[in-house]
Amino acid sequence: MNDLGRIEDLPTDYVASLTERNLVPLWPSLRGVMPAHTPRPRTLPTHWSYQDLRPLLMEAGRLTPIEKAERRVLVLANPGHGLEKMQASSAIYLGIQLLLPGEWAPAHRHTPNAVRMIIEGEGAYTTVEGEKCPMSRGDLILTPTGLWHEHGHDGQDPVTWLDVLDLPLVYYLEASYHVNGLAQPVSPDRGDVANATGGVLPTPFFQRTHKDYPLLRYPWASVRAQLLHMAESQPHVESVQVTYVNPNTGLDALNILGFHALMLKPGQTLQLPVRSTAMVYHLIEGDVRVSQPGHECRLEPADTSCAPGYVPVTLTNLHSQHPSFVFMADESPLQRKLGIYEVRA
Ligand SMILES: [Fe+2]
Repeated sequence: MNDLGRIEDLPTDYVASLTERNLVPLWPSLRGVMPAHTPRPRTLPTHWSYQDLRPLLMEAGRLTPIEKAERRVLVLANPGHGLEKMQASSAIYLGIQLLLPGEWAPAHRHTPNAVRMIIEGEGAYTTVEGEKCPMSRGDLILTPTGLWHEHGHDGQDPVTWLDVLDLPLVYYLEASYHVNGLAQPVSPDRGDVANATGGVLPTPFFQRTHKDYPLLRYPWASVRAQLLHMAESQPHVESVQVTYVNPNTGLDALNILGFHALMLKPGQTLQLPVRSTAMVYHLIEGDVRVSQPGHECRLEPADTSCAPGYVPVTLTNLHSQHPSFVFMADESPLQRKLGIYEVRA
């Protein structure tokens, strides 16, 4: 491939004349913005240990009252993007949030989509558009773009969860903002109960719901049971995994980020396909090694790691007697819509 001309090859007075007019020559930067064959992601493989960060999160609970934080979160920031950017990948934001007994995180809504994956503690809840979603370990709760939500905690112990947002993308699009609101009246509607059986939908008078997001809470007990059923009923399937979808459309649960759960059989090593999207791995249960070129980490329960797109990733269940369960987030819904999603052999 030709080496292209560099900026230093140009006369300085010529470059100055361009700069003065807000003009830039493309050729010195062309290979940088469009490298050959494979992108050069800024996203670095990164691992965050829950046991390591937990004391710092609890200290935040002592240092900063909820009124001074609104959302008490330690952001899992990817050093490849610069910590100040608060992003795990180009489109994914990750944070670990703490809510103490009796605390209330007031109602608001915002343009970025969010989900929370509950890590520890019982008795807390998120109310989304009036639907009260109880929080238990491994539950996935959606707060899609524009929907009111607030968090409360009637239990005895601290509650923590992993927040996953498409904030970096929405911020980049200069479309990120929030609106504060009042406490929501709670309705008796429970989408997670109405949609508890896969394959059938509530259709009163033969009509599907008009709600954009009929299912807001995916209880871990159901997802875990389904993965175990899959492994048992389809023993030939190597990759025991499910995707969180909108039951009304069958499409991804949210528009921008995708969410999946994977079961690794005892002792299993699973080579994942090389795909164009960055990935987040969060261990719900078990003991898993995540290997990618130049980086290896061991996920203990509630640990989180990320990998850039276009790299081969291998997951190994280090338990030889028990399955391990991994929650995954990626940018595949966004990339599919943009037409840039790719799976490489
Ligand atoms: Fe929020």
